[in-house]
Amino acid sequence: MAQCLFYAVAVADNQGETNKFFMSSVATFSAEGWRPPAPALRSNLAIGLRILFLRSPDLLQTLPRDCYTKDVVTVPVGLRPVFIVNHPETVRRVLTEDRANYPKSDLMVSALSPLLGDGVLIASGEIWEHDRQMLEPAFMHMRLAQMFSTMCAAVYDFVERLQRLDTDAIIDLESELTHVTADIMLRTIFSKPIGASQADAVFEAFSSFQKNSPQFQLQHVLASDPHKPTLPSQDLLRDASTVRALLSDLLDERLRMTAQGKVFVDFAQAVIDARDAMGGSFSREKIIDQLAVFFLAGHETTASSLSWTFFMLSQQPQILGQVRDEIREVLADRPFEFDDFKSLSFIRDVFRESLRLYPPAAFLTRRAVREDQFGRLKIPVDSFIVISPWLIHRHQVYWPQADRFIPARFTDHGGASTPGTYLPFGLGPRACTGATIAHLEASLILCEVLRRFSFVPLNAAKVFPVSRVSVRPSDGIRCRVEKK
Ligand code: HEM
Repeated sequence: MAQCLFYAVAVADNQGETNKFFMSSVATFSAEGWRPPAPALRSNLAIGLRILFLRSPDLLQTLPRDCYTKDVVTVPVGLRPVFIVNHPETVRRVLTEDRANYPKSDLMVSALSPLLGDGVLIASGEIWEHDRQMLEPAFMHMRLAQMFSTMCAAVYDFVERLQRLDTDAIIDLESELTHVTADIMLRTIFSKPIGASQADAVFEAFSSFQKNSPQFQLQHVLASDPHKPTLPSQDLLRDASTVRALLSDLLDERLRMTAQGKVFVDFAQAVIDARDAMGGSFSREKIIDQLAVFFLAGHETTASSLSWTFFMLSQQPQILGQVRDEIREVLADRPFEFDDFKSLSFIRDVFRESLRLYPPAAFLTRRAVREDQFGRLKIPVDSFIVISPWLIHRHQVYWPQADRFIPARFTDHGGASTPGTYLPFGLGPRACTGATIAHLEASLILCEVLRRFSFVPLNAAKVFPVSRVSVRPSDGIRCRVEKK
């Protein structure tokens, strides 16, 4: 409470000149036309009061207007300095050429390490370089054409599940989409559909981990000490060890089967067979780390972005009509084939725009391990650096009508007018390895679902984004499924 009372934030431009002090804020909906749900841009004072009176407000609710208009925002309270960086040049520097100075943040690592161990998503430095090289052949199993048939099998199972529903059945959109994207990843990793009992158990434990995982809140960042890692909760440790035990069982089963002479060509096998330049293999723990990374990174993000895409289309009938026209023109009545992916350009733009407004990885966080300068702004050791696709994609200077859903901005102008201001998949050597997979998966699911069904949200007015492991609707999206 006391911290909130004195929660003053200094905003600096990229030259490092502190130009304004303020109290922090929050959100509502705009009156002019339909605006996809997001916190309204509020003054620093309004945000300050919000932090003071709301218990544990979500991070998205504590970002004042300056975060959407300035190049760099500094937060000079708490145990260490926090810098929210929007300027594309500085973002590029942190994520690419100077990345050795900016490993993944201690808070991100301590939140995810119970589940991901030292997996490639949260490893840094030499360990990351070494493991990433070892994983290259495994990435081959994530090649699009190879994954496509696996994806189709899971998507057609999903469509069948929807078809078996009673007329006007109600579903929780997010959990259905999480189910199908998790199914795709499990089939890709272990050649096993999610229907099998072990796979189902992994899915359940992952869902619980996501619910219990600490939310990224400014107050937590300010109170955190980079030299004393935040201890994870007992619930989180329990969920993480359940998931890891199940992955371990699936791994044992795999090792037993290969010992009996069975041959597998999938991601799990490629990780088991991975070797470094000296011929060394991953330890058993490390194999589980990498499998957990791919399962988490590969399904959670895609489920989040598809939830927002279906939701926004349901609120914008004209754009939904354009999507259905494209499906009819390209596919007519036949199933989606691999080459159709390239022809479905409007659907690609819809998905891109959805990733702009609701980037699943809304905050990429790093820790400065050496002193640095952003222009004239000094960056002390242990500073917490926030690069936020959420903020950069909604930045008032870089994006006209930043808070509106306008897929045509990608069709007409190729998207971002300023290079480096569109980064849903990150940037540089640590950027996402699954970006094209996610696009293919999204196109396939959108086509195969929208040509057969309409999802009609029943709680549309209450759908509101919060920042969890990915950006999610706070109370889910309950939908009536209408068959076409
Ligand atoms: C819409 C879907 C997706 C989004 C928005 C997304 C976003 C991201 C972002 C922003 C990062 C970089 C994080 C950072 O710099 O701190 C990342 C890393 C990663 N993603 Fe994705 N991702 C998606 C789907 C996928 C899929 C489908 C896979 C795998 C099949 C995947 C695998 C990975 C891996 C392995 C990394 C770590 C790369 C490394 O550090 O070497 N992602 N993702």
